[in-house]
Amino acid sequence: MPASVVLGAQWGDEGKGKLVDQLAQESNWVARFQGGNNAGHTIVLGDQVLKLHQLPSGLTNPDCQLVLGAGMVIDPWVLEEELNKWKESSGESPEGKRLWISERAHVNLPFHRLYDGADVKIGTTGRGIGPTYRDKIERVGVRFCDIEHRRTDDEWLQENAGRMTSQLTAHGVSGSISASDLKESLDWVAARFGNAIKPTGLMLDLALRQGENVLLEGAQGCLLDIDHGTYPFVTSSVTSRANATHGVGIHPGHIGEVYGVVKAYTTRVGHGPFPGELFDDVGAYMGKMGHEFGTTTGRPRRCGWLDLVVLRHAQRLNGFTQLTLTKLDVLGGLDELEIVVGYDLDGQFLSEMPVCSEDMAKVKIVTEKVPGFPHIEMDEWLEMARDANENGKGYSALPDGAREYVEKVEAMLGVPISSVGVGPDREATIYKV
Ligand code: GDP
Ligand code: IMO
Ligand code: MG
Repeated sequence: MPASVVLGAQWGDEGKGKLVDQLAQESNWVARFQGGNNAGHTIVLGDQVLKLHQLPSGLTNPDCQLVLGAGMVIDPWVLEEELNKWKESSGESPEGKRLWISERAHVNLPFHRLYDGADVKIGTTGRGIGPTYRDKIERVGVRFCDIEHRRTDDEWLQENAGRMTSQLTAHGVSGSISASDLKESLDWVAARFGNAIKPTGLMLDLALRQGENVLLEGAQGCLLDIDHGTYPFVTSSVTSRANATHGVGIHPGHIGEVYGVVKAYTTRVGHGPFPGELFDDVGAYMGKMGHEFGTTTGRPRRCGWLDLVVLRHAQRLNGFTQLTLTKLDVLGGLDELEIVVGYDLDGQFLSEMPVCSEDMAKVKIVTEKVPGFPHIEMDEWLEMARDANENGKGYSALPDGAREYVEKVEAMLGVPISSVGVGPDREATIYKV
């Protein structure tokens, strides 16, 4: 059975966690392939709300194996917090039983977080993601498989504690890292997670050859991709399909379905250009109705109209085989909706994104107006979803304006929208028939 991939098509927070949780109920494995605890993936099951940062969103299926893949940068101390929370609510400790850390993944150390904490330019999550990837690329990082060697190597500990301290000083961060701090950190990680560090690429390859169902969970979104996003206002990893298999250590031929997750409007956290951003009552309405606050940092998310220029870019890079349109419910109550169909840069019409952030920040949006639909209470949306799915009604159950919006976006992008989110709950999804 081929592997499936779930990817964000915008600037993150599209609702990937909810979809992964739904698909994971039928999956044997869920693996993260990039990023780290900059991600915040939310799963809502009735009254229970789970906010996951590094743990794959397949956590809710007790029969599902979970992998933190080679392409990730993992903060073991945050992982410890996440695992403690999960144990409190479920009684389970999956590490070393069904949660596996790639031996090739890089360790996000206290130094990395301290360094990232000084960022003011990008508006990072401050979680040490960029600095950990920088050390990886500079070939001075620590992989999980290296911990045993490094923690007893006094020369390495001295040299690297010195490097870290001088980098902090040069970056204007007070604080220092001693060789004994570094040793203590590595000793703790070895003792806490040693039994979970595995050759996860081999494990996933074997699982696929045995016909098991593997789901690759993307973090962030296409426009935050280090190569193809709105550089430099991006994250530090490749967020696209091309890295999904590479990031877990299997080949691209394994990929079958590629789910693109698209929010029915657009949001962004952190700095950087956002052409469709609304500074008016409509943007405030989206933020309020959609509870648009970052899952990781709690910062308000900037809101704007759905942007087809962004989505065409995401489609070209990722070749989504199907789309999930999330948070359609949030748009209920707006009389008229707009869809960004192109940009105007100094009088010139653009159907593709300008490459430089300075130009992207300058463009004016060109939109098409479509009718809105009324606000509906959450319990009515849930009821509508249950009825639509149980009685085979599909999108015909949606109010007229909402259905027309879905059909319009599907036609404009030329990719089937296989499900529509109408609330945060796992059940609040209407599937296409
Ligand atoms: P992710 O990072 O892509 O997993 O998304 P986040 O969890 O950071 O943000 C998405 C937010 O929207 C979460 O609070 C979800 O519970 C919520 N959400 C997901 N799908 C829907 C939907 O269809 N409607 C509404 N109202 N909320 C949704
Ligand atoms: P999920 O997986 C939204 C943004 C940050 C910042 C930029 C760089 O929940 O969709 P970083 O800490 O990665 O160096 O920050 O990327 N960012 C996200 N925005 N959702 C995310 O993850 C994000 N992860 C990083 O706000 O603008
Ligand atoms: Mg998120």
